[in-house]
Amino acid sequence: MSGQKILVTGGAGYIGSHACVELLQENYDVIVIDNLSNSKSESLTRVEKITAKSLTFIQADIRDKQALSDIFTTHDIYAVMHFAGLKAVGESCLQPIRYYQNNVYGTLVLTEVMEEFGVKKIIFSSSATVYGEPDTVKYSEDLPVYGATNPYGKSKAMIEEILKDLAQADTLSNASNPWEIILLRYFNPIGAHISGLIGEDPNGIPNNLIPYVSQVAVGKLEQLSVFGGDYPTIDGTGVRDYIHVVDLVKGHLRALDSLGSISGCKAYNLGAGKGYSVLEIIAAFERITGQTIPYEIVDRRTGDIAENYADPSLALRELSWQTEKKLDDMVADTWRWQSQNPNGYE
Ligand code: NAD
Ligand code: UFG
Repeated sequence: MSGQKILVTGGAGYIGSHACVELLQENYDVIVIDNLSNSKSESLTRVEKITAKSLTFIQADIRDKQALSDIFTTHDIYAVMHFAGLKAVGESCLQPIRYYQNNVYGTLVLTEVMEEFGVKKIIFSSSATVYGEPDTVKYSEDLPVYGATNPYGKSKAMIEEILKDLAQADTLSNASNPWEIILLRYFNPIGAHISGLIGEDPNGIPNNLIPYVSQVAVGKLEQLSVFGGDYPTIDGTGVRDYIHVVDLVKGHLRALDSLGSISGCKAYNLGAGKGYSVLEIIAAFERITGQTIPYEIVDRRTGDIAENYADPSLALRELSWQTEKKLDDMVADTWRWQSQNPNGYE
């Protein structure tokens, strides 16, 4: 609702910055807390440029209880969108303590302070990775949250369990101001704001397909390694459900609308409900950018699965949300951001 204050943790990051744009455009007041461990404050300057509105930025860590308390003392927060977290799968295998410390402990500090101030509405950035490796390629929310294969994914599953327990405790005690918690399980967010002013700005060599392909297209990287050509998929390469980041953050706005009328903890998939293979992504990039994407098919990447895509029907039924953008929009918007900002925010 217009004028309500939303605390956006990790708001300077890729998805958080796009959420700030949508929130400001829907007339919310936005307070961002970010320690800039994986982002630059320039993203927020650009958010203000896109929206011609201002937001409040506090550079702090969500594990800093005093900093969080100060925010809740100063601002009458309606709800929290919780994006802050570390997200690199490979890095999490090498630095598990850092991942659990940042993601799990960070969420504990945040929810503790929220509870102290009686602010008990939260939308959490979860991931399809919490489903582990189920026996199906189409994931619906009733699949067990079990078997994430790396500390990053396990941290998301653990946080989901913690948040479910908070809601359960309020049910047991018949709390007068119960937790309202929405877990949003993202499939593969890609794309950028249509202005080309904000987008994904990974540090170093990208791990994920789309940032890698776009850096090949812009000439920063020589060629793409396609991880596996012998999967049981349409063309042997991995299939994923790519979702435009603006569609994704619109899902958060619809989740925000539903707070106030739900109780407890609810999980929703945010995905398009359709998968594309790596070769289909390469073809779309070549078509849209006019560049050739050199690639080589190499061995499978450890931990990858062949194929997955969302069953997004619950979000349509209960949040009146579905994706609107098509693959060509995702690629064109990625390319606009990448070609206008070949070195990201630097
Ligand atoms: P990102 O790294 O661009 O953004 C995360 C932001 O959180 C960064 O700005 C970082 O500086 C900040 N941050 C990290 N730890 C912090 C802490 N302790 N205190 C304060 N700020 C902190 O990542 P993103 O792609 O925007 O992802 C946002 C969220 O969505 C993450 O929780 C991520 O795990 C989740 N998610 C992302 C994807 C994806 O593919 N991008 C998929 C599923 C889930
Ligand atoms: N791929 C390549 N070459 C690359 C990078 C990726 O061929 O250089 C392939 C992968 O093998 C996969 C597809 O492109 O088939 C997509 O890979 P990404 O790394 O872009 O995405 P993932 O589906 O592996 O990972 C994403 C998120 C993770 C999350 C996971 C499960 O990035 O954070 O989904 O939800 F854990």
